[in-house]
Amino acid sequence: MLYRPLGKTSLTVSEIGLGCASWWGQMAFDERQAIALVHAALERGVTFFDTGASYSNGNAEPRLGRALRGRDLSGLVIATKAGTRHDGRRIVRDMSPGAIEASVMQSLANLGLERLPLLQLHGPAIVDLTAQLLSTLERLKTRGLVQALGVNSFDPAVIDHVAGLPQFDVVMVDYNVLRPERGPLIARAAAAGKGVLAGMPLAMGHTGGQVLKLRAPRDIWYALRALKNHRAEVLAGRRFAFLHQQAGVSGAQAALAYVLANRDVACAVMGTTRMAHLLENLDASGRALAPELAAAIAEAQSAGT
Ligand SMILES: NC(=O)c1ccc[n+]([C@@H]2O[C@H](COP(=O)([O-])OP(=O)(O)OC[C@H]3O[C@@H](n4cnc5c(N)ncnc54)[C@H](OP(=O)(O)O)[C@@H]3O)[C@@H](O)[C@H]2O)c1
Repeated sequence: MLYRPLGKTSLTVSEIGLGCASWWGQMAFDERQAIALVHAALERGVTFFDTGASYSNGNAEPRLGRALRGRDLSGLVIATKAGTRHDGRRIVRDMSPGAIEASVMQSLANLGLERLPLLQLHGPAIVDLTAQLLSTLERLKTRGLVQALGVNSFDPAVIDHVAGLPQFDVVMVDYNVLRPERGPLIARAAAAGKGVLAGMPLAMGHTGGQVLKLRAPRDIWYALRALKNHRAEVLAGRRFAFLHQQAGVSGAQAALAYVLANRDVACAVMGTTRMAHLLENLDASGRALAPELAAAIAEAQSAGT
């Protein structure tokens, strides 16, 4: 596993991280299997784990805490998110300073930590980033409850705004072969000194219709999510079927190599619920994207514009 600095924070992260969200965190997904994935990732040098207060109906964060119990946490960057929570029925959005502070206290308890290495606001609007909220975030840092601060947003205007705010150290954006337009946004954030995390680096399995391949009950969940929320990506992903037909590199490895070819990205944070996929994905660390494959990706990207 190779490592990269996380912007101007003093933190270093594995260039491939594990996202603890989605099906991974659902009650219906066997906890032993979920925890085995975290342990396998740790054993292979993964130091970045990403979760969120509202992920997987609120079950992902405490599950990650159980997975980390008794492990050596030094050198790990455990990242979580605040600003959304699951109230038992649906996701409730609340970026008020009080809600963020309460969320941090709950996350510390869920994760079994005294300090959160990275707290990210989960999808704030620019108007949410009030002087009061920013000073609350700064206080969480000075109290030693939070080490680094970030924002996870897929709205370029929010990321550009955050790049200009000294309180934030990190941004997480959606970056993958279907999102080349994020390149300049990432470059601006990195030039402003922010550490950049790439969420959804496998395009949520949308390349080549992977997400519609039903092999196990969990695949029905992924496929329904794709058809409900991401039809455009599933269609666009058809242009990238060739990624899965290369000799010597899998489609997921090629997708990760594409993201990591961008040196402004500190970590590609992928999600998986299968051990074979985890091992395959971690094996992408240090793999260069072959020039012919990079050219084919660029051609497929321009065909979509
Ligand atoms: N999605 C979002 O809206 C979002 C938002 C904010 C942050 N994030 C962060 O980004 C992380 C990753 O996002 P994500 O999980 O939505 O998307 P992703 O990592 O781009 O894709 C995950 C999908 O790819 C499949 N997959 C993984 N490895 C594979 C392999 N080797 N071969 C074939 N399929 C493979 C997974 O299925 P299997 O389980 O079968 O492997 C899953 O369906 C999240 O965990 C979270 O930390 C995501």
